Amino acid sequence: MKTVGITHLNYLSPDPMTLFTPYNLGPIPLTNRIVMAPMTRCRAIGNVPNDLMVEYYRQRATAGLLITEGVAPSPNGLGYARIPGIYSQAQVDGWEKVTQAVHDAGGKIFVQLMHTGRIAHPGNMEEGAEIVAPSAIAAAGEMYTDALGSQPHPVPKAMTISDIQQAQAEYVQAARNAIEAGFDGVELHAANGYLINQFINTRSNQRTDEYGGSGENRVRFAIEVAQQVAAAIGPERTGIRLSPYGTYNDLEVFEGMEATYEYLAGELGKMDLAYLHLINHPSMAPGEIGAATKVKLQQAFGGTVIACGGLDKATAEATLLAGEADLTAFGRPFIPNPDLAGRMQKDLSLSAPDHKTFYTPGEKGYTDYAMAD
Ligand SMILES: Cc1cc2nc3c(=O)[nH]c(=O)nc-3n(C[C@H](O)[C@H](O)[C@H](O)COP(=O)(O)O)c2cc1C
Repeated sequence: MKTVGITHLNYLSPDPMTLFTPYNLGPIPLTNRIVMAPMTRCRAIGNVPNDLMVEYYRQRATAGLLITEGVAPSPNGLGYARIPGIYSQAQVDGWEKVTQAVHDAGGKIFVQLMHTGRIAHPGNMEEGAEIVAPSAIAAAGEMYTDALGSQPHPVPKAMTISDIQQAQAEYVQAARNAIEAGFDGVELHAANGYLINQFINTRSNQRTDEYGGSGENRVRFAIEVAQQVAAAIGPERTGIRLSPYGTYNDLEVFEGMEATYEYLAGELGKMDLAYLHLINHPSMAPGEIGAATKVKLQQAFGGTVIACGGLDKATAEATLLAGEADLTAFGRPFIPNPDLAGRMQKDLSLSAPDHKTFYTPGEKGYTDYAMAD
């Protein structure tokens, strides 16, 4: 009875809004506004989700929504060591166990589709896979491999139109596989310098065809992937992650960035996608999305917005109350606090993560963090 009363009050008045106010993400009811941000953890030996990963996600299922680590839609998209894919039957079967465990624990889960493009090394990839990108420009920096240690990023192959169509078809098939594996939806990783972001950014895209040059041309790949995936699995099951102003993985702040992202957000909004997930970067790397830009993107998109980057309970609730986002995502706090939602609700202290085990194989620093009680 008490719960009904509180819920009813929330409908009568937009306040008070807290992290624990339920939210309907289209057809998907979320029990709270806390989202686990996507985090690559490199535990997928052989690139197949395993029982350790089932346990990791199960432990964190009290978040309103979990977003998985970046998952390769195809062998060409698998640039890092020990990241999972979602293109083989074994991978789909492995993910099915993850989604089942999360659903059994009352949670919801989207898979993040991450095609790494030029952020890759052949040492991490299957034989026959190709490192592809909008232009043949190597990213500065190095990629870790298990066999050879850190290696410079190779010069990628500049994608032909047929390569572009193939990559788009891979996203679509991966999205279909995700639904087959029981995911509630997919998040397209269009941030942090991976393939879709490589098309958007002038540093990695120097094409002269319809996928390069103007801002409208550079976001064409993102828009087409979103349209095709939404057509395959439904726009209400398709979210997207953007990092305007982010320069991670050798990107630059380009002229007209604001207008380009506003146009992109508007086009994505027309598709009625499930959500727009914005990363505010200063928590990890330079590149802040100013308050005015956030409002412009939110208005251009017109749907559910997830805010992420350096949030804690107080700043996340302030973000919700200010109407700047509908959901708030936490990355690093979820690593050592599997029951982050419960701890925040009870105002318990939070544990600090061990950075050394972010990407190492095995359970240490992965599934061995304690619950509060
Ligand atoms: C270990 C680790 C792995 C990450 N992997 C991904 C990833 O696969 N995909 C992605 O979009 N962001 C990734 N991120 C970025 C997070 O999703 C998030 O944007 C970032 O950690 C900022 O949020 P926070 O301040 O709450 O940690 C990763 C972050 C960390 C710490």
